[in-house]
Amino acid sequence: MHEAVAAATKSTPEYRQCPYPVYRTLREQAPIARLTPGHGVDTYLITRYEDAHAILADPRIGKDMHEGIDLYHALFGDLCEALDDNLLFADPPRHTRLRHIAKTAFTPRHIHALRPHIEELAHGLLDRCPTDRPVDLMQAFALPLPVMVICELLGIVGQERTEVLKWFAVVTRSRFNKDLKGDLEEAEIWLRDYFARHIHRTRQQPTDDFLTMLVETPHEEEPLTDDELVSMIWVLLFAGHKTTTLQIGNCVFSLLTHPDQLRAVQENRELLPQAIEEMQRFEGSVETSTFRYALEDVEIGGTVIPKGAVVQIALNSANRDPEKFPDPDTLDFTREGLQSSHLGFGYGAHYCLGAPLARLELEICLTALLDRFPDMVLAMPTPAEGDWLKGPFPAFRGLERLPVALDPSR
Ligand code: HEM
Repeated sequence: MHEAVAAATKSTPEYRQCPYPVYRTLREQAPIARLTPGHGVDTYLITRYEDAHAILADPRIGKDMHEGIDLYHALFGDLCEALDDNLLFADPPRHTRLRHIAKTAFTPRHIHALRPHIEELAHGLLDRCPTDRPVDLMQAFALPLPVMVICELLGIVGQERTEVLKWFAVVTRSRFNKDLKGDLEEAEIWLRDYFARHIHRTRQQPTDDFLTMLVETPHEEEPLTDDELVSMIWVLLFAGHKTTTLQIGNCVFSLLTHPDQLRAVQENRELLPQAIEEMQRFEGSVETSTFRYALEDVEIGGTVIPKGAVVQIALNSANRDPEKFPDPDTLDFTREGLQSSHLGFGYGAHYCLGAPLARLELEICLTALLDRFPDMVLAMPTPAEGDWLKGPFPAFRGLERLPVALDPSR
């Protein structure tokens, strides 16, 4: 087996710390690499931008979870049932219908209306951070905020939100830990029951919120069933929390390890949206796409991916492909046109539905930090040393902890 393939498959510590040299080798020597990861299913890893872009838009490569149900059972266990009806793991025509309904509810008006709430949540969390000693920004800020925002979107507030956060934390903590299986089951049952009650209440007392729009499906579509609604809530929680948490951490880490770029954005805040796109390209939180399956034999760049094989797209590798982005390992906030070219939010039919919300969250979080703590520094042994997530391959890319001194003068 190619050395670079082995490093990616085994997810060695060096690879986790910095996977980019491995991706460079794969792009140059094995751009469509066959691997056999922990889950044991034949997998093809795509590392070049051009191939990734083509595959993400190719209808011969599907996503329906029923194609790989064993794999999904290994990953999600009992949650498979709840995730069964969701758009992230569906193909047309099921995907088209679910996506259309979700998109109608995910309007710019709804996202925009969330701004003051997200600002309040972000500042509330920062108010509680100590400034006289280092604080782990992942635990104190990046982790709680995105779930709070999704609750806000779904109209889950007050004490109910506190309960949902508590039980959802149990799910995320225990999903990959067999010793905590009992806790996981209890949490899943509690959340499923709660979501069903919340949906029932929204049907009885509609408002103008996001969940009401989902319940009141656009007239040309068949309405969502209660099971589909519960599944939609699960997928928003799963797709919208860890991705955003890790991206907040990646952005802060990138800023603090690139003082020249940090200074540029501090001197010119109008650069921030462009900077966020560049940081998403440079260190995206979704390192590889979710699973796809070859629905037939598919030839790409001279390699035949056989029907039934899993196809995995290394988004972070495509985003560092010099054929597409010159000098790709340099963080450069003056790059333009990134919003429509980097693959950090995917591409094609499954392009991230929450991208506008994620961008808003990132903008609010970074603005709050830069305004309140302009002298913030890393409180790690050396600036280059992050505590990168280990996890199995395929992986998210992000930090487990991010100790910072918010006000080093204290
Ligand atoms: C899909 C990234 C935040 C909801 C995706 C995909 C990527 C992605 C790469 C495509 C997956 C694939 O094709 O395999 C991200 C990143 C985020 C983020 C990096 C944060 C920085 C959010 C948020 C929400 C969300 C905040 C909603 C609350 C979704 C949904 C899909 C999706 C529903 C599935 C769309 C479909 O299958 O049609 N995301 N996401 N995401 N994302 Fe996000």
